[in-house]
Amino acid sequence: MRRPHTCFSEKPQQHLILPHRRLLLVRPPLLLVLLLLLTLTVSSWLAVFLCGFSKPRQQQVPSLEFNESLNNNNAHHSSAESVQDRNDSLSSGNLLGSPYHNWQLFASDFQEMLHKLKIFVYPDASMNQSSSPFARVFLPNPNPFHPKLANYFSEHMFKVALLRSSLLTPHPQDAHFFFLPFSVNTLRNDPRVHSEASISDFVTQYTTRISWEYKFWNASRGTDHFYICCHSVGREAASKHHDLHNNAIQVTCSSSYFQRLYISHKDVGLPQVWPRPPEKLLNPPELRHKLVFFAGRVQNSHIRQELMAVWGNDTDIDLFSGSPPFPYEEGLRKSKYCLHVKGYEVNTARVCDAIHYGCIPVIVSNYYDLPFSNVLDWSKFSVIISHKSIATLKKILLSISKQKYLSMYQNLCLVRRHFAWHTTPRGYDSFHMTAYQLWLRRGVHRLSY
Ligand SMILES: *[C@@H]1O[C@H](CO)[C@@H](O)[C@H](O)[C@H]1NC(C)=O
Ligand SMILES: *[C@@H]1O[C@H](CO)[C@@H](O)[C@H](O)[C@H]1NC(C)=O
Ligand SMILES: *[C@@H]1O[C@H](CO)[C@@H](O)[C@H](O)[C@H]1NC(C)=O
Ligand SMILES: *[C@@H]1O[C@H](CO)[C@@H](O)[C@H](O)[C@H]1NC(C)=O
Ligand SMILES: *[C@@H]1O[C@H](CO)[C@@H](O)[C@H](O)[C@H]1NC(C)=O
Repeated sequence: MRRPHTCFSEKPQQHLILPHRRLLLVRPPLLLVLLLLLTLTVSSWLAVFLCGFSKPRQQQVPSLEFNESLNNNNAHHSSAESVQDRNDSLSSGNLLGSPYHNWQLFASDFQEMLHKLKIFVYPDASMNQSSSPFARVFLPNPNPFHPKLANYFSEHMFKVALLRSSLLTPHPQDAHFFFLPFSVNTLRNDPRVHSEASISDFVTQYTTRISWEYKFWNASRGTDHFYICCHSVGREAASKHHDLHNNAIQVTCSSSYFQRLYISHKDVGLPQVWPRPPEKLLNPPELRHKLVFFAGRVQNSHIRQELMAVWGNDTDIDLFSGSPPFPYEEGLRKSKYCLHVKGYEVNTARVCDAIHYGCIPVIVSNYYDLPFSNVLDWSKFSVIISHKSIATLKKILLSISKQKYLSMYQNLCLVRRHFAWHTTPRGYDSFHMTAYQLWLRRGVHRLSY
């Protein structure tokens, strides 16, 4: 009998980096622990040990009862979250090394960002609901957890989190960045706007109004302004406004660098996260008996068709065209690797689903500008393969040694916190990681207005 292994510790952080020996002393009953040690191979124990103790505090997930009214007053008074540094030296013992390109540099720059970065939000995001017929487009969504919005969860949660963040400033003169608070998803669902052409007209008119009413847009021609959109409906939003498209920063889930409407290095890739209940107990590596899992519609992608044709009957590979005969989450829990295969778009929530359930993402999606890839070394916790490698998929995955797989699993546990949203941002969550991307794009010289 095996105890389920938790990826998260409920203990305070100072207990997290205990040497192995002390851990045994403080965790009764000793005999059970020793038995456990014997039943696990040394390597898988190491992975579980590192994984189980890599997360400071219990996982903070967005409250599903989120129903408080959001207004700017709250937001201005929200205090800076104390952000706990995680020492990733634990991962230095693993085969692949840290999942960060340079943890020390990132962690100190991130702390500086938390103290210094200031974002101004145009007041449409806090206007009186009855004062404008389009107020809904700008106000934070009152229920971003609504299942119908799940594909656009990141878009809505960014605004909700920003308005409660300590990075918000009511003084535009102090701001590094200016947020244009329109929601492409809300525009899409508004019958008065709806079409992609009308959305870009609306967005163009709004940006023009901002440039008339405030001096900040003209001062930078929009380079310190940004907007957010998730999923492909947002792609065309900026296309009719030259400076909005060429200068302003698009924070988007559709971060695919072959698209003419995405400019890598200027724009920011946003993780597409599906709102999911917390998964505190991750299924450990040795209880993942399937090699590969994928479920998704096949008809919208040649690569998916090829995948089915080649691997559809393989017993190690669970492929489902459409819904599997068991809950989707089960596939993510019981498999070692979970496929992300381009459909209409390169981005889908599948990458973050896999990360959420501790399944190593296998990304078969050329041209995807992976979120936070200037901070995270995706090769340390995912497998990235070309479209052309479908035929050798199984060979590629089977050639990954157990040690290497366990290292990826450990690293996945370390980076999971970056792919979660909170209504009040905290720590190294998706909001702060996205804000950090803005921070890296800030102008060093302040403009005078
Ligand atoms: C908000 O959530 C709390 C906690 O679940 C609940 O008691 C309360 O009735 C909710 N309020 C509204 C307006 O939905
Ligand atoms: C992390 O821990 C290691 C070993 O305990 C220590 O040498 C290193 O200085 C620590 N790094 C930080 C950033 O605290
Ligand atoms: C919103 O505007 C309406 C009409 O202008 C006004 O009656 C109402 O008091 C305002 N509400 C708030 C919260 O300011
Ligand atoms: C910004 O520039 C436009 C013309 O490019 C002008 O019409 C507008 O009045 C300017 N805005 C301000 C606040 O001066
Ligand atoms: C999979 O099995 C079905 C039914 O037995 C068969 O028709 C099909 O050709 C098989 N596909 C492959 C790639 O072997």
